[in-house]
Amino acid sequence: DASVVRRDRFSGGPARGFLSSLAADERIFQADLAVDRAHVVMLAEQGIIEFDVAGEILAALEEVEAAGHGALPDGEDVHEAIETAVVDHIGPDGGKMHTARSRNDEVAACIRHRLREDLLDAAEGTVALREALVEVAEEHVDTVMPGYTHLQPAQPTTLAHFLLSYESAVARDTARLLDAYDRTNRSPLGAAAFAGTPFDIDRERTAALLGFDGIVENSMDASAGRDFLAEATSALATHAVTLSGLAEDLVIFANKGFVDLADDYSSTSSIMPQKVNPDTLELVRAVAGDAVGDLTGLLTTLKGLPRAYNRDLQRATPHAWETVDAVSEATAVAAGAVATADWPVETLAAEAGAGFSTATGVADALAMAGVPFRTAHEVLAEAAERAGGETPDVATLDEVAADVLGDSLFEYVDRADVEAVLDPGESVTSRDSVGGPAPEAVARQLDAAEERRAAD
Ligand code: ARG
Repeated sequence: DASVVRRDRFSGGPARGFLSSLAADERIFQADLAVDRAHVVMLAEQGIIEFDVAGEILAALEEVEAAGHGALPDGEDVHEAIETAVVDHIGPDGGKMHTARSRNDEVAACIRHRLREDLLDAAEGTVALREALVEVAEEHVDTVMPGYTHLQPAQPTTLAHFLLSYESAVARDTARLLDAYDRTNRSPLGAAAFAGTPFDIDRERTAALLGFDGIVENSMDASAGRDFLAEATSALATHAVTLSGLAEDLVIFANKGFVDLADDYSSTSSIMPQKVNPDTLELVRAVAGDAVGDLTGLLTTLKGLPRAYNRDLQRATPHAWETVDAVSEATAVAAGAVATADWPVETLAAEAGAGFSTATGVADALAMAGVPFRTAHEVLAEAAERAGGETPDVATLDEVAADVLGDSLFEYVDRADVEAVLDPGESVTSRDSVGGPAPEAVARQLDAAEERRAAD
């Protein structure tokens, strides 16, 4: 009995559990059924197996699908277990399913088939996050807030400008995921173990039946290559790093009272009754650690593998599944947190000028009047020092100008203009260079964000 022979081949001995990927393969159960069906149809069309045998195999695959992954016989992996189940249903003819292929091209096809779906879901998640960022940004084009470098107050900006900075980054994450999708969506099926097959197979046909956008031609490359996994995981890890920055900013803002996260995205303390903690965002931040770890694990597993198939590849795949699941979840949580948060506009405005964040604007005004920027910088650095890091009054600025430049400040800039640039809102409005925070510059960025989202 062929099925007995087949099962006996995987005794596995004491290493049985260690060798088997059957449990982890649940992820590619549906993909394997699809790959089996496409392969069987092609084999029959090419006259390699009889049409009635193909029909029996397809019917058996229906039964296998209905019973589910959990009902599969024990096996080294899902490919072997499904084949065993088919043979159990229809007898030795079920073994014809494995004509002109190997588990090596089969597993590669299954991973690509499943991963392309996951990548599309992940990319869609990034688009939804961008939508949330843009929607909040649209409402806060005039919401002036502090901007930071080195976590120190640096220059006033707006909430819209801040949020759109992340929208831009996430838009590139989307593009990277779609690039990874393009190279993932190629069929390795028909490569067999690595060296092709003497059967007159039609690789383009199975590729088309499975919805792949072409084939991975070189059969050794097709069965051994996992750079598509590395590319996908890398795009996801890069996106996770983007998310971690956004999460960290929101954690800091929550700490300063610059954002009120919705209850759904906060958590309380089991002991301290007054606490509302940004736990969800801390977990989003932590997912980047997992993603970088998985990417590192994957690349380290792939490094130095010789051609062609090596069983190491079995342990490479789960890194991609873990990453795509965790990162997609984190993307959705980040989008929810952004969409539902409240922004205390008055607090943000009141803090926007803290730490003399308008100093650069005064230096710019002096430089526009012909004072070399470096000299203007000195004037303002001295003024900042005299004011103890807070915003000096106009009289102090004038005093410093007299000391450093030997002239009254008002020889260079009108008092009204100095007062204007010291105002955080005016300061923002003045910075209308392309990509800057001034409302008109932000309006352009909003349009561009809407356009690229419509295109994705
Ligand atoms: N389960 C294996 C994997 O995930 C595929 C089987 C190929 N096995 C083999 N001994 N050639 O890579």
